[in-house]
Amino acid sequence: MKAAIVSTGSYLPERRVHNDDLARIMDTSDEWIFSRTGIRYRHIADESEAASDLAVQAATRALERSRTKADQLDMIILATSTPDFMGLPSTAAIVQDRLQAGKAAAMDVVAACSGFVYALDTARAFIESGSAARILVVGSEVYSKILNWDDRTTAVLFGDGAGAVVVEAVPDDHGSCIAQAILRAEGAGAETLYRSHGGTRYAYVPGQTHESELKLQMDGRAVYMFAVRAVGAVIQELLERESLVFDDVDWVIPHQANVRILTETAKRRGYDLDRFYVNIEQVANTSAASIPIALDEMVSTGKLTRGMRIMTVGFGSGLTYGGTIIRW
Ligand code: UT7
Repeated sequence: MKAAIVSTGSYLPERRVHNDDLARIMDTSDEWIFSRTGIRYRHIADESEAASDLAVQAATRALERSRTKADQLDMIILATSTPDFMGLPSTAAIVQDRLQAGKAAAMDVVAACSGFVYALDTARAFIESGSAARILVVGSEVYSKILNWDDRTTAVLFGDGAGAVVVEAVPDDHGSCIAQAILRAEGAGAETLYRSHGGTRYAYVPGQTHESELKLQMDGRAVYMFAVRAVGAVIQELLERESLVFDDVDWVIPHQANVRILTETAKRRGYDLDRFYVNIEQVANTSAASIPIALDEMVSTGKLTRGMRIMTVGFGSGLTYGGTIIRW
């Protein structure tokens, strides 16, 4: 048995914020943000919206497209680092209830911007082992609620959104499948991108914990250097495992963090940059949601069609990284 993605769905909150809007509330500019990152817009959830709300919208679209009824799902795996509630319960369990997925197990995967790749490979493993036949994989993030809006070095980079795919068991000779996956971590870099306080290491202490310590903090340069190294290494290893060359791949769908990470990787490794799908200008960095949002956009616009060979590549906090080769 193999595992194949049979449908996609995505959801972006209604409110769309241009770089110029940010320049009105902090010391930044459209010119700086766009030239350093490739970002022009991001969608921002309204106050009442949590990760599960975005996830349900994206999931409903993915389920409709494959005519899957929620009660046919064996499992919901939801990748997020901005859950509805801190630690428990899982956001996946809330989505399971909202979708009325009566017989589905539900769990969250916490691997930040690599979350979708980790969740997808987990789904593949459950399906290939015969433990599940139909799994909903979702990436859903509301970073706007964990950003320090007084820190221009992080606040301009992220956006909110959700993407979902339905993964199903297919026969070994089926044309579509998740063919290869790599998952890696370098935990020594844990503090390059994290929320230092509010967990059990440095618990929230009233009067002592500063609000900024509860928000996302990042050493941008260190993450940038890690990302360029990780993206190139994953692509190379995936190609080697399948005895392919870069030209055999129709599309690389990378995590959308900074267009310069992709330009630099392509330059160093001699890859054709045009094969990297980039939508960061419109949506910014949506962490675990970025790859499934891109997949859904590519399907909707006809850029991704059955029979194509694609790669997904994720990287982020942990530090974590990974990738897949998918026969679409
Ligand atoms: O999913 C993974 C998430 N993480 C990432 O994607 C982070 C990866 N890293 C990056 O993308 C880049 O390192 C950044 C975009 C975060 C920063 O780009 P950079 O070219 O490394 O800039 P920098 O941090 O070296 O800062 C250059 C200057 C500084 O000013 P000075 O010290 O040279 O006077 C910053 O204070 O740019 C300033 N700066 C800004 N200026 C205007 C930093 N943020 C801003 C801003 N607007 N938003």
